Amino acid sequence: MQQLYAQACAVIAGGVNSPARAFHAVGGTPIFMHRASGAYMWDVTGTRYIDYIAGYGPTILGHGHPAITAAITDAAHTGVLFGTPHVHEISFAHLLREAIPSMDIVRITSTGTEAVMSAIRLARTATTRRTIVKCSGCYHGHADSVLASAGSGVASVGIEHTAPDVISVPFNDTEAFVRALSAHKEDIAAVIVEPIVGNFGIVPPQPGYMELLRTGTKDIGALLLFDEVISAFRFHWGGAQTYWDVSVIPDITILGKIIGGGLPIGAYGGHADLMALVAPCGPMYQAGTHAANPLSVQAGIACVHALRDASLYTHMSVLAALLADGIVSRAQHYGIPVTVQRVGGAFSVHFCSHPITNFEDAKKVDKKKFAAFFHGLLSRGIAIAPSMYEAWFVSAAHTHEDVARTLDAIDAIWRSW
Ligand SMILES: Cc1ncc(COP(=O)(O)O)c(C=O)c1O
Repeated sequence: MQQLYAQACAVIAGGVNSPARAFHAVGGTPIFMHRASGAYMWDVTGTRYIDYIAGYGPTILGHGHPAITAAITDAAHTGVLFGTPHVHEISFAHLLREAIPSMDIVRITSTGTEAVMSAIRLARTATTRRTIVKCSGCYHGHADSVLASAGSGVASVGIEHTAPDVISVPFNDTEAFVRALSAHKEDIAAVIVEPIVGNFGIVPPQPGYMELLRTGTKDIGALLLFDEVISAFRFHWGGAQTYWDVSVIPDITILGKIIGGGLPIGAYGGHADLMALVAPCGPMYQAGTHAANPLSVQAGIACVHALRDASLYTHMSVLAALLADGIVSRAQHYGIPVTVQRVGGAFSVHFCSHPITNFEDAKKVDKKKFAAFFHGLLSRGIAIAPSMYEAWFVSAAHTHEDVARTLDAIDAIWRSW
């Protein structure tokens, strides 16, 4: 691996094409993968790993799902790029709207970053205001305006950004939110948030917080943007906006990851009146050579269709609960402070004894313990993301046996500490 990493460093910035893949936070050398199937990945030496990275979220059905592979193969045979409209994008838009009805009209992009960037531009156009409010630790891709106080890879490699016209507030802090809104009410175009955070752990909103964001934005004439790039289709067939009993409906929803079935994708959408501002109908310009790429769209349709099967979500939840409970009980047994937070099939493991409600909580953890845990898992054939801020994703392809093997490995790691 060291040799490959040296070769990569000679020709690729930092040896990785996304900083989240670097091992800066945990030390050592990234693993070069060769192939993947179901719940597993194999590195270039043939070592197998149980995969909880899931490509940072998209591969919810596991690797090489037959319906997605068939869709990609079909798209490859019928044309990978036309530079014209194609029929699959219409079916895809209908499917997204059926699952997330607040996305009356959508625009499909190539990445989540582009979808966020465009949604912000749309909010600024609609309100003729500039200021964006975001929650610290939420990650919304790498557009300039949302890199401020970002979680995920930005936090893992320790980069601090500031952006003009952006105000960061702690997630779940109602007072800070109300203060920011009242101080800047004339200037705020939008509030952007992950409705269930996935970028500094799995962090659900406290009761009433999302409702406050909704009423607060409405009161000052600003838009509410839900970045559902991780959360849409992660917890059920639809967005996090309708996952809880109380549904909070945003003005613009942003999607990515799962809706591409493992291929690059992004989308944003909202009420028809708002989306009428997007070019060519309106003045808000946004475009893309690869936007709604036929391969991604056909893979996405296959993935979203397969996820209609609610039993898949039950399966992922059951396995994730077994893992989460097993981790907590082993941590108690060995006297290791650990906080595990789970929603459905996704959870996070923080080496601390306090709950994680915001980014500040997530930073106050034992980084050395996480690094030792990470390498202990990797050496036992279990792949998690190389950052204490990233979630574990259970896919539909994981089995009870994978869970048992994972818990045995964790037991062995902590027994040796
Ligand atoms: C919540 C959220 N929004 C936006 C993005 C950016 O998506 P992409 O990496 O496809 O540009 C990410 C990526 O991790 C994300 O987690």
